[in-house]
Amino acid sequence: MTQIQPFTPQSLDKAISILNKGGCVAIPTETVYGLAGDATNGEAVAKIFETKGRPSFNPLISHFYSLDHLQRYVELSDDAKQLAAAFWPGAMTLILPRRHNCEISDVTCAGLDTIAVRIPAHPTAQSIIKAFGKPLAAPSANTSGEVSPTSAIHVADSLGDKVPLIIADGQSNIGVESTVIDLSNDQAILLRPGAITAQDCADVLGYDVAIDLGDHDKPKSPGQLLKHYAPKTPIRLKAFDITEGEALLAFGSTKFMPTSKLPTDYILNLSDNGDLYEAASNLFAYLRKLDQLGASSIAVMDIPNTGIGLAINDRLKRAAEK
Ligand code: TXA
Ligand code: MG
Repeated sequence: MTQIQPFTPQSLDKAISILNKGGCVAIPTETVYGLAGDATNGEAVAKIFETKGRPSFNPLISHFYSLDHLQRYVELSDDAKQLAAAFWPGAMTLILPRRHNCEISDVTCAGLDTIAVRIPAHPTAQSIIKAFGKPLAAPSANTSGEVSPTSAIHVADSLGDKVPLIIADGQSNIGVESTVIDLSNDQAILLRPGAITAQDCADVLGYDVAIDLGDHDKPKSPGQLLKHYAPKTPIRLKAFDITEGEALLAFGSTKFMPTSKLPTDYILNLSDNGDLYEAASNLFAYLRKLDQLGASSIAVMDIPNTGIGLAINDRLKRAAEK
């Protein structure tokens, strides 16, 4: 049986004891909930891959509680130090060259010579990593290919009894996964959009940061190869009308949409007043809700492709892929 527990000294003890035995625990972060295991223990990490049904070629992010903690395992380039000072703790993941004596398991990095690292800002995530002492590998706590979880209930719905303990701490306030920045070459490249934008990084680094979302022959990140975030109901993007039997994922004003015939639970608005941050935080929860209606498809209104809108549209595009 899975247990959903609030963060208390007792649940912390329990989480640490499971992690010490090589097990997995679902933990809250400010982006999405993560399925955490000891990043230095290949068997623990293999359990994460197995629990999610994730292909083992797709490497995981290792999470640390502070820069000092991280620097025990990974060396930071000048660019990495600048981005770290600006955005950590927070919703940014850096891909860095792996040190050969680095204790993080090859299984975590899927055998690559680079490693993905992040210092989450969520105080509960930080406390758990600190109490454990070693980095935690943590992908989003959902079955591979499904919509990412932004609450403990989402984790339980997706993974159920496959995970012994879920630490519950409200809704992830950002709601989309961290921005992934590849620093393994001369210049930073953004591989996955999130709350921190390429422009935010460019402002810190003093040069233009390229965006490469892998929509070509040679994706730089194994995760870019995979179908993702897919509800069971088909998704129709950039909708300006609604067809019979459809549900509507709205954004901003719906004045021009023919919504009067829709049952009230068939329409959810990501943000009535068009706030992209609010929209990101609601995205996965609303996709899950609309997916449960048995609608013929989910029509999604156009969402501006600026700022965190790039991350929202990236997830929606992958969700709409057949
Ligand atoms: O917000 C987040 O980042 C959440 C929370 C739990 O921290 N975690 C998360 O992990 O989204 P995951 O495993 O779902 O996404 C990690 C992404 C994948 O697309 C993976 O392919 C990419 O990072 N990645 C990991 N290591 C990499 C590497 N060495 N080179 C290129 N891409 C890498
Ligand atoms: Mg994921």
